[in-house]
Amino acid sequence: MSSIPSNSENTPHILVLGIGGTIAGLAQDPTNPTEYQAGQVGIDTLLARIQEGIPGSVKLVSRQLANIDSRDLSEDLLTLIGNTVKESLQEPTVKGIVITHGTDTIEESGFFLSATCGKLAEKLSKRIVLTGAMLPSNAPQADGPQNLLDSLKWASTAPENCPGGVYAVFAGKVCLARDLAKRHTSNLNAPLMDSPSSSIGLINPSWVSRVRAIQAACGEDLPIPEGVWPWVEILTSHAGARSQAIDAIVGAGVQGLILAGTGLGGLNQAWLAPLKQAQAKGIALVRASRTGAGLTVVSKDDLICQLAGGLSAPRARIALQLALNASATSKSLTWQDFFARIAVLPEFR
Ligand code: SIN
Repeated sequence: MSSIPSNSENTPHILVLGIGGTIAGLAQDPTNPTEYQAGQVGIDTLLARIQEGIPGSVKLVSRQLANIDSRDLSEDLLTLIGNTVKESLQEPTVKGIVITHGTDTIEESGFFLSATCGKLAEKLSKRIVLTGAMLPSNAPQADGPQNLLDSLKWASTAPENCPGGVYAVFAGKVCLARDLAKRHTSNLNAPLMDSPSSSIGLINPSWVSRVRAIQAACGEDLPIPEGVWPWVEILTSHAGARSQAIDAIVGAGVQGLILAGTGLGGLNQAWLAPLKQAQAKGIALVRASRTGAGLTVVSKDDLICQLAGGLSAPRARIALQLALNASATSKSLTWQDFFARIAVLPEFR
């Protein structure tokens, strides 16, 4: 573990984990920040650049877990992030954890950490905070430094003001990480555009009540997979969908499918027969919606399968992988039981 100079792991601190992303990106020409490479600058350098803004009472220890463009986020890396967070949370000197991450797949990591470490963080009254940026670190208006400062502030906010748990901070706001999803290609607040959130500076009590209600509805943390994760793919239903697509992926050995249907979760008729055959072979099916918001409901077709509730397809994919993994070693609970524990929550909006 590499420390920011003068900070020791033996004194109370916030642990900052660098994963990469645009926040650590560099543009060849800073005046043209749309052309850049993500994951170029180390976490210590990013922290050194904001050192003046960090209150003297907040001590930091940093660790570079990866430095990638998050489109390449792998399941092995998710396992490493999850295990690091879980172990670190249990260290008495770690008061909170900030993770700098690419925004493209922050939705997956946010949901994964919520489902595997959320209850532990809540129990220990510690905050895990994900953040990132939409502009590379050398852009004149780079948003990363402020997002990182805000995240450190949120991670070190007194527990009386908001419960421990897994959060995300962007553009001056905070939301639950399980609500976070990049919903615009370039807006500075793209990762939390549609998420119920509060301002960092003035915590909104009705948002805190919502946080508590969601936390109360979530079941126990699921185990982090060891080794190879179950193979789950997302298939989007669309005009002209063909049965051969289902046959091909089932033939290749997929273990689960997230079916991102149209509207409420409707699936093209061409898929129904091969999906029923897949289900009969034991392939786990979850019906989501490609619309981007709202609940999936039991559809008019006769394919009976698990519903994703309000989860987007990428979140439902992580949920199904964790559920399949947990059920493989459970004597009494099915993957559907585990999926419901983390995915099927009442609507609070
Ligand atoms: C990435 O996800 O690593 C690149 C995009 C971003 O961070 O905004």
